[in-house]
Amino acid sequence: MQSHDHDYDLVVRGATLASAAEVFEADLGVKDGTIAAVGRGLRRGAEEIDARGLILTPGGLDPHCHIEEPAEGGGVQEESFVTGSAAALAGGTTSFICFVPQWKGHPIAATAESYEATARAAMADYSFHQIITDPTPDVLEREVPALVARGIRSLKVFLTYDPLRLTDGQFLEVLATARRLGALVTVHCENFDAIGWRIRALLAAGLTDPLQHAWARPPVVEREATHRAIALAELVDQPIQVFHVSCDAAAEEIARARARGVKVWGETCPQYLTLSTDDLARPDFEGAKAVCSPALRAPEERARVWARIQDGTLDVVSSDHCGFSFATAKRAPGSSGYGQGGAAARADGLPAFNAIPNGVPGIETRMPVLFSEGVSAGRIDLPAFVRLTSANAARLFGLQGRKGSLAPGADADLVLWDPTAERTLANADLHHAIDYTPWEGLRLKGLPTTTIRRGEVAVRDGAVLAQPGSGRFLARGPYDLVRPTGRVPDGFDAAGR
Ligand code: URP
Ligand code: ZN
Ligand code: ZN
Repeated sequence: MQSHDHDYDLVVRGATLASAAEVFEADLGVKDGTIAAVGRGLRRGAEEIDARGLILTPGGLDPHCHIEEPAEGGGVQEESFVTGSAAALAGGTTSFICFVPQWKGHPIAATAESYEATARAAMADYSFHQIITDPTPDVLEREVPALVARGIRSLKVFLTYDPLRLTDGQFLEVLATARRLGALVTVHCENFDAIGWRIRALLAAGLTDPLQHAWARPPVVEREATHRAIALAELVDQPIQVFHVSCDAAAEEIARARARGVKVWGETCPQYLTLSTDDLARPDFEGAKAVCSPALRAPEERARVWARIQDGTLDVVSSDHCGFSFATAKRAPGSSGYGQGGAAARADGLPAFNAIPNGVPGIETRMPVLFSEGVSAGRIDLPAFVRLTSANAARLFGLQGRKGSLAPGADADLVLWDPTAERTLANADLHHAIDYTPWEGLRLKGLPTTTIRRGEVAVRDGAVLAQPGSGRFLARGPYDLVRPTGRVPDGFDAAGR
């Protein structure tokens, strides 16, 4: 309860603050869930946190995670909104954007309503991208405008996966709709037919191990689809974000398009910065723990993806958290939706690489892995860390001024980091519902000690204090394409349009 003796509900005192643009020493005062003041020598708060020696960043915004997503055919991902959001908060992520599915032949509304009801269990703030798999006139002209009006202002399309993928013609219809409505389009870029052709050849040669997942989806299938997605977006003059860029060849397409003024943004994920085909090649089927699409690349590719972060080609690091346990993968459920279709069992009863559900869990590890491998390892500075983990996504997805910021008026979503703390990552310490982490045994330097969500301490020293259902739905505004460094990219006017 607020007393007359206190100017603030909470004061975080003496931290080193890191925003998207600068690093400075200050106190930060919180009132009614928002940041009320930033400065030295702030007056007393009802609660005080002595943060000397710690770094204070905005809470993370993870704009790409798959949580409790129902699959066509009845399967549902193991991660629930309760476990997924607890894991998010424990890793410093205070808000996330996940996906409302659409099933071919079905309208959106009913699925969206039931998924939104499920999401109310979350303890972090959340919003949705709408997946479009069947862009009928009714969906594009009636249902999508209704979603955008409710603040669901981004659409997700797949150029691969059976049965999720769109044809180029359907993709163009989605782009044109998004342009009319001022919504962003996010794209999974891989060439479906090329992957199918490779899979058939590999299986015919008796090659079935998890490593062959990467052989079936080499960089060229990602590069081609990235080029195509950008070309079609250029034709419509509609901004897109390319999801989960895994390799330099695809990033190069983004950089070249940007240089000629195309409004295209790029995202990558910690798996493409830290894991490789060496992980897919682990013996005893352990490689299945590293099956995601696009596939992990050769070890030397990681340095090139870091370079694309450093030169600003890739703006966002999301988790692409996708929860399928190892035990589930071994049974090859085939109903995840995230697969190429077809289930080829091997002589040992385990699934062939093409029947392993795609995706790795990472909502809790996203920020600590990027802090350790990025900031502590000297690859990126603290403002870049903030831009990559929250501020850029906040602008792209219409949450600017509210999330990813330490400025007065923003939601008081905050993370305290101890840059000297070290830990070895172990799945047993994580809060998600998945039975493994692909980063088991990775030594981390720099760890989150406290996560604050809208002014309340949600996690302290690994203990999750937030309650299920305390997360809020984030209705989002229009995108803001100016990067937080303030530079207007080539091809944009001063307002970033
Ligand atoms: O392998 C992945 N990335 N699974 C999640 C679904 C997707 O493609 O984003
Ligand atoms: Zn994808
Ligand atoms: Zn994804």
